Amino acid sequence: MSTLVTGATGMVGRRVLTELERRGLPVTGASRTSPTRLDWTDTANWGDVLKGVERVFVVTPVGLGLGSRVGGFLERAAEAGVDHAVVMSAMGTEHAPSDSDQRTAEMRVKELFGRWTVLRPNWFHQDFTEGVFANLARSRNGRLELPVRKKSGISFVDARDVANAAVAALTADHHGREYTLTGPQALTFREVVRMTKGTDSPVWRYKAIDEAGFYFRASDRGWGERYIDTLNERFAAANAGLAGSVTEDVRAALGRDPIPMARFVREATA
Ligand SMILES: NC(=O)c1ccc[n+]([C@@H]2O[C@H](COP(=O)([O-])OP(=O)(O)OC[C@H]3O[C@@H](n4cnc5c(N)ncnc54)[C@H](OP(=O)(O)O)[C@@H]3O)[C@@H](O)[C@H]2O)c1
Repeated sequence: MSTLVTGATGMVGRRVLTELERRGLPVTGASRTSPTRLDWTDTANWGDVLKGVERVFVVTPVGLGLGSRVGGFLERAAEAGVDHAVVMSAMGTEHAPSDSDQRTAEMRVKELFGRWTVLRPNWFHQDFTEGVFANLARSRNGRLELPVRKKSGISFVDARDVANAAVAALTADHHGREYTLTGPQALTFREVVRMTKGTDSPVWRYKAIDEAGFYFRASDRGWGERYIDTLNERFAAANAGLAGSVTEDVRAALGRDPIPMARFVREATA
C-alpha cells in the first residue's frame, strides 16, 4: 500500500515526494505532467491512479475553480479504501466561503477520511526563486510589483518546512490537527528584497502598486481572472494585517523552529 502525492511537480508536492522516496516508503507522485498522470478535470484514469493507495496528499490548484473536481476525486479515493488524507490549503482558508476551491477540499477531507490533517501555509520563501514572485519579477527586469503596501508584513514560510509537515502528517499521528504554518518572523517585501541584494535572486526591486495595476499586469501575462482575483484577495489580507502573525505550528508538527528567510536566501543563492 502506498502514498499518493498530488501536485507532485509543485513547490511542496515535489519535496514531499522526494522525502518519502528518501525514506524508502512506497509513494507515487501525480499531476498532469508527472509520469503518473492525474488531471483534476479528467476522471478517465482516476481508478488506476488510486489502485493500492492507502494515503493521499492533496494539493488543490488555486483560482481555477477545481474545488468540486478535487472533491470528486476524494470521494473516489474514499470509495477505493483510502482512509488517511493530508490536505494543503493556505493561511486563512478556514474563513473562506464554503464553496471556495480550497475550503471545499478541506471540508471534503474531514468528511471522507478516518484520519486527516489540514495544512494552511503562509506564502512560501520559494515564491521568490521558483514561484509567482520570481515569475513576475523576471518579466519586469527584476522589479516585483504587487498590491501589497510597503509596510505590510508577511510571515513567509519555507516550502521545505511545509513539505516536512506534510510528511509528518502522512507518517505519524497528526490526526484532526489543523496547522497554520508560518516562518519565525513577519517581513515586508522591501525587507526581503534588501536581504537578497547582491545575490542572483530574480527579484531586485519592490514597488507597491494598486489592485487595478496588478490586474492589468497579470492579465497581460495571460493569467485568468479567477486566479488574479484569488491573488488579490490574499494581497488584501496582507494589507489588512492578516498575513503577519507567527504561529508555533511548524514547531508543533516538526518539533523544531521554522527555517528563517535569511537562511533560505543564503542557501538559495550560495
Ligand atoms: N505559493 C505559495 O506561496 C502558497 C502559499 C500557501 C498555499 N499555497 C497553496 O499551494 C497550492 C499550490 O499552489 P502553487 O501556486 O504554489 O503551486 P505549484 O507549486 O505550482 O503547484 C501546483 C501543482 O498543481 C498541479 N496542477 C495544476 N493544475 C492541475 C490539474 N488540472 N490537475 C492536476 N494537477 C494540477 C501542478 O502540476 P502539473 O502542472 O504537472 O499538473 C503542480 O504540481 C495551492 O493550493 C496554493 O493555495 C501556495
